[in-house]
Amino acid sequence: MEKREELYAGKAKSVYLTDDPDCLILEFRDDTSAFDGEKVAQLARKGMVNNHFNVFIMNKLAEAGIPVHVEKLLSDKEVLVKKLDMMPVECVVRNIAAGSICRRLGVTEGIDLNPPTYELFLKDDALHDPMINESHVETFAWVKTADLAKMKELTYKVNDVLKKLFADAGMLLVDYKLEFGLFHGEVVLGDEFSPDGCRLWDAETREKLDKDRFRQGLGGVVEAYEEVAKRLGMRLP
Ligand code: ADP
Ligand code: TMP
Ligand code: ASP
Repeated sequence: MEKREELYAGKAKSVYLTDDPDCLILEFRDDTSAFDGEKVAQLARKGMVNNHFNVFIMNKLAEAGIPVHVEKLLSDKEVLVKKLDMMPVECVVRNIAAGSICRRLGVTEGIDLNPPTYELFLKDDALHDPMINESHVETFAWVKTADLAKMKELTYKVNDVLKKLFADAGMLLVDYKLEFGLFHGEVVLGDEFSPDGCRLWDAETREKLDKDRFRQGLGGVVEAYEEVAKRLGMRLP
């Protein structure tokens, strides 16, 4: 597998073409951003931790029958993935209230959401990733209706798998964001699952172990990510 030119540099990852038109290499950088790129910093080891974390989680999801883009860990910061035609819509499930739902609906942080909520956001930093609904997706033809239904089904299936995985390791999966894309017409989970794109709390103390530590200036960001990885039984370099 030969790494070719950079296709795109995002806020936290760089995307490279390869000699295989069906494959890309994602490089996880140490750059960390929040509030749609308004707050940025470099956090040592974060790229390596999130790359290993993402491969670990995606492999668990694949074992549960969820189609994922991860092909192979290439190095501490690089992973080989299927080249997807990404959907501009992000899928968010919340098991416990935190973040934007508290601001939008005046809900108290920490209350259980039963059944979990399912929300869609438009992936557009300039517009601050506005919340959208299925009708918007259909009207503006952002995603085909059948593919949107598949994304919802897979997003809930991810919840079943990961809620248990984290619970068994003493953590609460508060919420998470997923990005999907099409690979030769099939809906496949892309991007990353890491503490950058979900909320994880210690089950006993409810200590935050995710990117809220960065958003809220709590410190110990990468240390918390490494603690989560350790609890899951991952061995990081
Ligand atoms: P952002 O674009 O939000 O700043 P990143 O820094 O994480 O985010 O950049 C990674 C980019 O790569 C994102 O735009 C994401 O949608 C895209 N991407 C993730 N996985 C794939 C894939 N398998 N195929 C094509 N693009 C992908
Ligand atoms: P929110 O509370 O800010 O709406 O975010 C819900 C969850 O989804 C949280 O774990 C962060 C994640 N998320 C992202 O990582 N990127 C995004 O662009 C959005 C909208 C959410
Ligand atoms: N992922 C988005 C950003 O980097 C939103 C967030 O995490 O707050 O700005």
